[in-house]
Amino acid sequence: MSVPPSSQPLLAVHQLVVGFPAKGGRGDNSALLPYQQAVCGVSFALNRGEVLGLVGESGCGKSLTSLAVLNLVPTPGKILEGSVSLEKQSLLALPADAMRKIRGARIALIPQDPMTSLNPVYTIGNQLLEVITLHRNLHGAAAEQVAIEALDAVKVPNAKQRLTQYPHEFSGGMRQRVMIAMALACEPDVLIADEPTTALDVTVQAQILALIKELQAERGMGVLLITHDLGVVAQVCHRVAVMYAGRIVEEAPVKELFSKPSHPYTQSLLAAIPNMKSDRGNALQAIEGQPPPVGMIPHNACAFAPRCSKAEPRCTEALPPVASVSPNHTAQCVLV
Ligand SMILES: Nc1ncnc2c1ncn2[C@@H]1O[C@H](COP(=O)(O)OP(=O)(O)OP(=O)(O)O)[C@@H](O)[C@H]1O
Ligand code: SF4
Ligand SMILES: [Mg+2]
Repeated sequence: MSVPPSSQPLLAVHQLVVGFPAKGGRGDNSALLPYQQAVCGVSFALNRGEVLGLVGESGCGKSLTSLAVLNLVPTPGKILEGSVSLEKQSLLALPADAMRKIRGARIALIPQDPMTSLNPVYTIGNQLLEVITLHRNLHGAAAEQVAIEALDAVKVPNAKQRLTQYPHEFSGGMRQRVMIAMALACEPDVLIADEPTTALDVTVQAQILALIKELQAERGMGVLLITHDLGVVAQVCHRVAVMYAGRIVEEAPVKELFSKPSHPYTQSLLAAIPNMKSDRGNALQAIEGQPPPVGMIPHNACAFAPRCSKAEPRCTEALPPVASVSPNHTAQCVLV
């Protein structure tokens, strides 16, 4: 039975700021030796049974945002401000062991680089059974059955025999499927999938996306789907958040974003797509110029101004406010 999207947020991220110590600084977040922000105040809510797409050019802070949700920002990076709540529970102040229980069991991450996430010295079966035992409290034959079903679901052939093999005996695409199986076997409430299908061929990619969508609909799982592919967004997502230089610059229901993009950055991304009807080749195309690197992101101006054909003097006089385009549609641009 399909679970309809609800208005009660499952995951709420509020004004999240993530930074790295400025070069030469001690990184103690004092005014003199500050952190440089890579994520500059990101807020979003994910509902049950909803797929929220997070798109934007390379380096805009998508992966850091997803890692911050799990309190896994790599050192020397640090969450400087903001909150993350899973239903009513605030996550960022949780003790490490409580947070470990949330990871995997309630919020699962398919990391951007799954190739390095499997332990080379343990079999795939050991690693799958470990998470199934830990998070689903299943043992022996029952746990093995769940592991086999999880590998079957992501189309790993000969699942039972494959459990006895080591990661190096799997191709890159197969390892990515194992990571997806591991995340889904725990039946999380929230799945964060960071470019989950990039290493897979188009047919398998479509199967995996269909599986994620099916589980989201059946179990009411909320999915944060990070992707460069606007074709995938159009097929799978209910809502989309567009990131630029550490900020969400536009957020809207998927149909409205495609029919009425309101931020010039989103407009450029969509204009650069050759054919939205094609189910291939909709990866974000290069638009002229470069986003500002961490350390050069302005705090009192629109970061897109140097690349924006509609820029006006007021765009660089203050940070544009987040404006409402329609009840569920916002954009951070002075023209809205
Ligand atoms: N360990 C680190 N030290 C310093 N800067 C970092 C570190 N990790 C990420 N950054 C910077 O933070 C910014 C955001 O990185 P992030 O990985 O979140 O980008 P992304 O949007 O996921 O990009 P991509 O689409 O390429 O995966 C980048 O400019 C990156 O250079
Ligand atoms: S605020 Fe100004 S520079 Fe920024 S996107 Fe809007 S028009 Fe362009
Ligand atoms: Mg990334």
